[in-house]
Amino acid sequence: MSRRMVLSAAFVASVVASTVSPARAQGELTVYCTVQEEWCRPMMAAFERATGINVAMTRRSSGETLTQIRAERQNPRGDVWWGGTGDPHLQAGEEGLTEEYRSPNLALLHPWAVQQAEQSGFRTVGIYAGALGYSYNTRELERRRIEAPRCWADLLKPAFRGEVQVADPNTSGTSYTMLATLVQLMGEEPAFTFLKGLHANINQYTRSGAAPARAAATGESLVGITFLHDAVTQKVGGAPVTIVAPCEGTGYEIGSMSIIKGARNLENARRFFDWALTAEAQEIGAQARSYQLPSNREAKIPAEAPRFEDVKLIAYDFVKYGSAAERNRILQRWDREVRAAQR
Ligand code: G6P
Repeated sequence: MSRRMVLSAAFVASVVASTVSPARAQGELTVYCTVQEEWCRPMMAAFERATGINVAMTRRSSGETLTQIRAERQNPRGDVWWGGTGDPHLQAGEEGLTEEYRSPNLALLHPWAVQQAEQSGFRTVGIYAGALGYSYNTRELERRRIEAPRCWADLLKPAFRGEVQVADPNTSGTSYTMLATLVQLMGEEPAFTFLKGLHANINQYTRSGAAPARAAATGESLVGITFLHDAVTQKVGGAPVTIVAPCEGTGYEIGSMSIIKGARNLENARRFFDWALTAEAQEIGAQARSYQLPSNREAKIPAEAPRFEDVKLIAYDFVKYGSAAERNRILQRWDREVRAAQR
């Protein structure tokens, strides 16, 4: 081989290397993640492996993420908002903070997930579902000889004074789901009477929705109100908890995903969106001990996932409670009448 040929072969090799170097060739993606950190991380790593795209990810709760995207409206920093309850995703769509996108993979989804897309003018889509409820620390409950709670109403009993934990509905989609659920289940006035009564028994309003499940698992709080699947994560991890789907009935979330308006990496955002709707991507949830019901019809339902058939579910009105006017109104009422009340 002549010297010239060697040089040109080396040159070609370096050009090829730089074009196939995944990061440089495929670029970047910024994802705002709202499921548990334990699921966010393997999900992003799997997408990086599948595409060579570099992902920068931050985890925040649903309401916090909506606030952030709104604050960045003039100069969007995020590309995709993945996970978190559906209502704030619907509100983001209504406020024009998210992009319309009709993924070809919508065809792979359950009707409830597609309906979420249709109702938002294709600005969001359902990626998983899960019902709301609570869990209590069985060991502590028995030790203190407290009768096992089964219903929402039981949480108002004096035995639970300072023993119930739930997130703040302003930051947490889980807690907003509780607020909207009780309003739909009981009617607005009785729901606020209930919430004021519950306030007396609350030890802490956390920022993140799943934190109370951890508090119940350790016994730091006797009861934690969360999605049922967040309590299952604790139980699977060996915690002595009992999981309750309240006897009166309960609401549920359609965990959602949206592309942020003005995304700097729009093509990559669409690739993530398509990929996140595949069965393979959705099955990462159970591997990370997240036991929601996947929206892809072919994705395996984890054996541990609480089934909707076993829960008395209300017909949650996502259009109404995901609208900006209604969500803002009941959150403000909660701040005024519940949060500000004496305990
Ligand atoms: C947990 C649940 C998710 C839910 C999310 C909402 O991660 O596993 O199903 O969507 O909480 O988070 P937030 O902190 O907004 O209540």
